[in-house]
Amino acid sequence: MAEWQKSTWRTKPRVQMPDYLDAAALADVEARLSAYPPLVFAGEARKLKRALGAASRGEAFLLQGGDCAEAFDQFSADAIRDTFKVMLQMAMVLTYGAKVPVVKVGRMAGQFAKPRSAPMETVGGTELPSYRGDIINELAFTEAGRIPDPTKMLQAYTQSAATLNLLRAFSKGGYADMTKVHNWTLGFTEGEKAARYREMAERISDALDFMRAAGVNSESTEALQTVDFYTSHESLLLEYEEALTRLDSTSGNWLAGSGHMIWIGDRTRQPDGAHVEFARGVLNPVGLKCGPTTTAEDLKVLMSRLNPANEPGKLTLIARFGAGNVGEHLPRLIRAVREEGASVTWVCDPMHGNTVKSASGYKTRPFDAVLREVRDFFGVHKAEGTIPGGVHFEMTGQDVTECTGGVHAVKDEDLSHRYHTACDPRLNASQSLELAFLVAEELSALRVERHAEAV
Ligand code: PEP
Ligand code: CO
Repeated sequence: MAEWQKSTWRTKPRVQMPDYLDAAALADVEARLSAYPPLVFAGEARKLKRALGAASRGEAFLLQGGDCAEAFDQFSADAIRDTFKVMLQMAMVLTYGAKVPVVKVGRMAGQFAKPRSAPMETVGGTELPSYRGDIINELAFTEAGRIPDPTKMLQAYTQSAATLNLLRAFSKGGYADMTKVHNWTLGFTEGEKAARYREMAERISDALDFMRAAGVNSESTEALQTVDFYTSHESLLLEYEEALTRLDSTSGNWLAGSGHMIWIGDRTRQPDGAHVEFARGVLNPVGLKCGPTTTAEDLKVLMSRLNPANEPGKLTLIARFGAGNVGEHLPRLIRAVREEGASVTWVCDPMHGNTVKSASGYKTRPFDAVLREVRDFFGVHKAEGTIPGGVHFEMTGQDVTECTGGVHAVKDEDLSHRYHTACDPRLNASQSLELAFLVAEELSALRVERHAEAV
């Protein structure tokens, strides 16, 4: 392969990126961002990489979640706190099921740029360029709003910096205290359908009571009081990514300073394209979305480009096939990984293959389909003897009505009540927690089985 530089992606074919009309304005923004501090540090990205390596071996489990797209007009401390809080609750439930550390990674503090299925959008006979995320243009359906504006990158940087600042404070400042997190989980377990989950919550409560009685409390144990919380986003807008890329002086390697983990989307994973070229040169852990159209040949090339040293934790394969399609596609890709002897962390995204248009016209995801894809993912890994290393969700701590179903049964006709997403439909707090309980059951069954094999 030719030598990598943070700008070599510019020599490759690019898709899903805007054409900025004002080259001078773009250059000015790039120069400014290049002088700004990075949002994350190399040591943190390396620590996350080690944790993801543990997940690839079944010694940890990844929980990755957050908005489909962060939005400028939904930016608030409460929204960040609520998503953080639900992720901690989910992590506690998963830790209980898996009995291994849960690696917490938000789709936060940088998840602004969106790939679209069509370049243009037509409303009432008027055709305009599609919305591509707040870092690029505006959701408002106006001609001016849909023109890509490079200065939006500066606002995205500022919002990401403020978000990360708050996340760092929540993670280390006492808010993440395990005993408090558990109290939040209790509220969820009302309702008949939740009986199984209530039982698990009670067992978690027992475990914490026992620890307290034995003198292990959160005041005396830092591990119970603080968490490591990482950020991630799709590295789609490469001008922004390049401008935040920094040389790590201790290792001589390059860091994507925009977030701890970056991923390549299902629409931008061309082996010879610009997005793969950028991602192959940075030291961060990299995610790669794998969909029904991912071929074994492409996957082999991608694994060798994105993880040439076969480093554990470097490459996470995020499977998103859709409920009912996992059995057809996951085994053939697992075979490709096996044939290459590649080290990867397998993660299930049960969201992006399950998007449908509801009768009421909203883009939604049936909760049952989401659950089914997760179950199928675990089933295939069990059959293949491989490790399910984590889950990837679009979710929010807000009480939205965007996905149908769940314990509190959101119906088609309810979607209009609180449908706030700027892009794809997200699980609400209660659906997220229900999903965590299901994944915990799967993990717990897996653990029992492995234990039985070992004795
Ligand atoms: C996303 O994660 O929001 C996304 C667009 O996913 P995918 O690339 O898998 O479609
Ligand atoms: Co999405």
